[in-house]
Amino acid sequence: MASQHGAQVLVASNRGPVSYARGDDGSLTAKRGGGGLVSGLSAIGPDAGAVWVCAALGDGDREAVRRSEGGHLPADDTGGQRVRMLDIAPDVFAAAYNGIANSVLWFVHHLLYETPLEPVFDAGFREQWRAYEAYNAAFADALAAEAAEGAAVLVQDYHLTLVPGMLRERRPDLRIGHFSHTPWAPPDYYRLLPDDVAAEVLRGVLGADRAAFLTRRWADAFIACCRDVLGASAAGDGGSVTFEGHTTRIGVHGLGADADFLRKRSHEADVEERMAALREQIGGRGRRTIVRVDRTELSKNIVRGLLAYRLLLERRPEWRGEVVHVAFAYPSRQDLAVYRDYTERVQAVADEINAEFGREGWQPVALHVKDDFARSLAAYRLADVALVNPIRDGMNLVAKEVPVVSDEGCALVLSREAGAYEELGQDAITVNPYDVEDTARALHEALALPRDERAERTKRLAAAATALPPAQWFMAQLRALEG
Ligand code: G6P
Repeated sequence: MASQHGAQVLVASNRGPVSYARGDDGSLTAKRGGGGLVSGLSAIGPDAGAVWVCAALGDGDREAVRRSEGGHLPADDTGGQRVRMLDIAPDVFAAAYNGIANSVLWFVHHLLYETPLEPVFDAGFREQWRAYEAYNAAFADALAAEAAEGAAVLVQDYHLTLVPGMLRERRPDLRIGHFSHTPWAPPDYYRLLPDDVAAEVLRGVLGADRAAFLTRRWADAFIACCRDVLGASAAGDGGSVTFEGHTTRIGVHGLGADADFLRKRSHEADVEERMAALREQIGGRGRRTIVRVDRTELSKNIVRGLLAYRLLLERRPEWRGEVVHVAFAYPSRQDLAVYRDYTERVQAVADEINAEFGREGWQPVALHVKDDFARSLAAYRLADVALVNPIRDGMNLVAKEVPVVSDEGCALVLSREAGAYEELGQDAITVNPYDVEDTARALHEALALPRDERAERTKRLAAAATALPPAQWFMAQLRALEG
């Protein structure tokens, strides 16, 4: 049933634009959510009148939902954005989010399994899969209740692959889009999933009128999976997939950096302060910096990045004492043991390099793990080299943000497996992310790049990086769905 006062535009994602922390005195503090998806979607702004449906992620969020009217959060907390937060039973949420979304679908799309031992799809997996279905159904119910007749609904990411199909059953009048912020797995790897699950995910997404991706490469992989797993037929130009009489249009929208916001924000006082602090930590006159900024995420390949830096110091003694690797690795998905282990490994390798090469007045690696956006911007501004070497990445916004913010030009070492490679590959120094030797070579090349050439390349990178800023990216999806 269409809601009488329903919204004309709706967005659905697991993580919403705001999350709440609960203080000891019972008070709730609202904080802006993080990650590429949230930064992209935040550009919608309150004026669009869209309703954003998201999940309560922790105790603070659950408490905020309890204090709200039916999960509609107070405008003061959301910067005016209309947000409906869903309080899904904690065990269902945990099984769907940690279990299926982050330990299965994320792993499949980023090719992260160590296949001699993982994955094992057993009874525990089946229980989690049922939770994933229930969690998707909760979103479909909420969207069906919030949407006006004929509204446009933009469903985001791998957490919510079943929502388009479920929502179409509940509300055939709606126009439904799905957007994937991750890569899509190639068919041979995708088929690690149990056959029924592999099919259900694809059917779910194909419930949409339009399924969109960050790059052509991920869109083509999705189409190949639809063909191989479902026997669906695809248009020759890759523009649509037809299955059981329903045609889903396929789109590509490469999310870009928000130049206006970044340039303004990166010149505020707190960023200047952090630049001074970083300069002091780096020390030494004329010393170079290699910067990386990531969630501590398996797919970001932080450990191989450190190993490549170690190899650079070994092979090229001329850089010893002349360069500092500033690595920001912010905690992520710490409920998962494999992420906790990875976080420890990152710290251990950084410590090893410092112990092996460090000396009075020079610490080769400066690792920071406390999330601080202002400090990230400070590092972007002064970086000589940015290292972006993911195993696989839907887009990677850091690669796009650095050239926009850089003060004097920054050489970009970029994995050919990042979505951003499609747009930035030409002016970056590209690497095979598994090849540590090649990455060490690329770091040397980047450090040695003449300043004027570096500045020229940075200008071109910034232009390519800002071709589709978040607000336009969002509008492009919406218009394409309505068109
Ligand atoms: C990626 C995903 C997003 C997710 C973000 C942060 O960018 O595509 O959907 O929100 O990672 O991960 P988290 O699990 O903390 O939401």
